[in-house]
Amino acid sequence: MAFQITIEDTGEQFACSETKHVLAGMQKLGKKGIPVGCRSGGCGVCKVQVLSGEYTSKKMSRDHVSAEEESEGVVLACRVFPTSDITLSVIGHLRKAVTR
Ligand code: FES
Repeated sequence: MAFQITIEDTGEQFACSETKHVLAGMQKLGKKGIPVGCRSGGCGVCKVQVLSGEYTSKKMSRDHVSAEEESEGVVLACRVFPTSDITLSVIGHLRKAVTR
């Protein structure tokens, strides 16, 4: 099943199934310069903040996402799998790439 992901900063939307991580879905937007690093939660380039919606997440490096950030919905897009429609905000490296 595919869920609708909305990037609040730009209003763009993309589909992402629960078996694909959000970063993979975002890449399908075809934007140039979306930083895709390790795809395994280790490099921190794909940081986003989930504003609404449900998701499951895999292990993320504490170097990139602190426990406090995680409690505020800050996650690494390559470690997050949607279980409902999601609205998110792009932060860090990703913000520059997505909003330019
Ligand atoms: S791509 Fe490296 S943490 Fe997501």
